[in-house]
Amino acid sequence: MIDTIARTRDMNLHLKSGGSALHILRSITFEIKAGEVVSVVGPSGSGKTSLLMVLGGLERASSGLVCIGGTDLTGLDEDKLADMRRENIGILFQNFHLIPSMTALENVALALEIAFEDLPVTEIRSRARAALAEVGLAARETHLPSALSGGEQQRVGLARAIVTRPRLLLADEPTGNLDQETAASAIELLFTLARRNNMSVLLITHDNGLASRADRHLRMDHGELRELEAAI
Ligand SMILES: Nc1ncnc2c1ncn2[C@@H]1O[C@H](COP(=O)(O)OP(=O)(O)OP(=O)(O)O)[C@@H](O)[C@H]1O
Ligand SMILES: [Mg+2]
Repeated sequence: MIDTIARTRDMNLHLKSGGSALHILRSITFEIKAGEVVSVVGPSGSGKTSLLMVLGGLERASSGLVCIGGTDLTGLDEDKLADMRRENIGILFQNFHLIPSMTALENVALALEIAFEDLPVTEIRSRARAALAEVGLAARETHLPSALSGGEQQRVGLARAIVTRPRLLLADEPTGNLDQETAASAIELLFTLARRNNMSVLLITHDNGLASRADRHLRMDHGELRELEAAI
């Protein structure tokens, strides 16, 4: 069993904007251990989402090492990157990104269908139902997103992110659209599921109170990532 789920060494990201290249992530070296919940805070535009994109294999680092689950992502072709994502990564978005015309259950099932094309329909259905039950929404299976509260929509998003049993969950301000109380209970649930499933979490948040609940605390400034002794 690999003890470190994600690791970068001297990783840089340059992105082109107009004619010039911007240095977005600067020599980032860090790791996330299996089962660890790590928070990332930092000002808008500092590079938090960019880091998430690189770790999720959605953006390629310009230089340096990026390893997920023991595999070096540099040099992987698109198919292999997609395999890596399917086997290791779940993503939770701020705006939920649920498909409006699909029920809660169908939204969760879709993630499984995409990840495991050969899975029998009955299996997809039972796993999707189990994931919805895990986030406390067994009674909302047939609801469309428009008939769910914001907190419930984010819990469907969480069920969708964990239904493939990812080893690393990347969460980009998952509570940004929720009121404080709902945000706190959504994060509580996230942490409970992480511990239960030995899932690592990279939690990007502007909320220092939520960040302080993580096992480790990181801060991004101008593309540089550093470890904090404690959340501020
Ligand atoms: N596709 C792109 N091309 C060029 N520059 C980009 C691109 N995407 C992001 N950037 C720039 O990279 C920098 C970091 O953006 P990023 O989205 O990672 O910030 P962030 O820390 O997530 O901010 P926020 O808290 O507002 O979400 C910003 O200056 C942004 O303008
Ligand atoms: Mg962002």
